[in-house]
Amino acid sequence: MSYEGELTKISLAVDLAGLKLRSPIMNASGVLGISIPLLKRVYNSGTGAVITKSIGPLSRPGHPNPTMVHVEGGVLNSMGLPNPGVDYFSIEVKELSDAGVPVIASFFASTIDEFTDSSIKLERAGARALELNLSCPNVSGESGMCATDPYTTEKVTAAVKSVTKLPLFVKLSPNVTDIIPIAKAAEFGGADAITVTNTLKGMAIDIDFKKPILSNVTGGLSGPALKPVALRYVWEIYEAVKIPIIGCGGINNWRDAVEYLLAGSTALEVGTAIMTHGFEIFNEINEGISQYMVENKFNDLKEMIGLAHKS
Ligand SMILES: Cc1cc2nc3c(=O)[nH]c(=O)nc-3n(C[C@H](O)[C@H](O)[C@H](O)COP(=O)(O)O)c2cc1C
Repeated sequence: MSYEGELTKISLAVDLAGLKLRSPIMNASGVLGISIPLLKRVYNSGTGAVITKSIGPLSRPGHPNPTMVHVEGGVLNSMGLPNPGVDYFSIEVKELSDAGVPVIASFFASTIDEFTDSSIKLERAGARALELNLSCPNVSGESGMCATDPYTTEKVTAAVKSVTKLPLFVKLSPNVTDIIPIAKAAEFGGADAITVTNTLKGMAIDIDFKKPILSNVTGGLSGPALKPVALRYVWEIYEAVKIPIIGCGGINNWRDAVEYLLAGSTALEVGTAIMTHGFEIFNEINEGISQYMVENKFNDLKEMIGLAHKS
């Protein structure tokens, strides 16, 4: 992936915790479901790697419809993590990976054993990195929801890290009072990068039926409305930890992507914008960042990462 500027050839390659990416842009987990042909299209549209939907230890149907509603500034979803289970999905990860696509496998579980078992299976299937989705309901025997509890975050991260050689990215939830102790717990547990963030809890009411629109009552807000919140978290976490950050939340165009890089992200994930802009969004962002680098005389993406902290 390179940008042919008037005089300059710009590379967007980044090293994300040892994972070499041709572009810092990736798809955010889940937005395209589990379709392998769609994930291949994502990669062919210019991403550095593809991220799978979060896979659980066993298949589960997710919540009944309606599970998604458009709201001002974004989308609310309460899919309920529907997925075919890690054994079935490992076959699909292998197919993608055999086709030359760098796969980051996102996964969740309810017990430490399930977390470690899934990570071993996904590594064997050919995943190049793992993204730990800690927005799971709880880890049995522990004190609470993983992503809201530093102790559980560290314990799960360390357990997974002890059974895999792959780079491990820990994805945090914005639904917390203070994200810093949780980010530090992930780093202390051995995370190689932190993904910031998952969706922000919200709801919508149908005023004609006079009841909540989503069957689950609440859902996760994604899209442009999430961007200032997630960007602020990237900013704060950048000052608190030493490991790389993957920015995620409301990236809708190349300007948003540049903001996230300047705030301290090494790589970026785009979710809801795929639904609103199509697969072309990846190429548009690559082109926009390249043009910005030429205009601002940056030779390497590294020069931009966290730059806004220095001014
Ligand atoms: C329909 C839908 C399904 C999602 N499924 C997952 C999932 O399986 N695992 C996960 O970690 N995040 C999931 N997310 C959250 C996204 O990966 C991302 O963190 C969030 O949408 C913010 O990014 P965005 O504003 O670019 O969409 C989902 C989001 C949407 C909209």
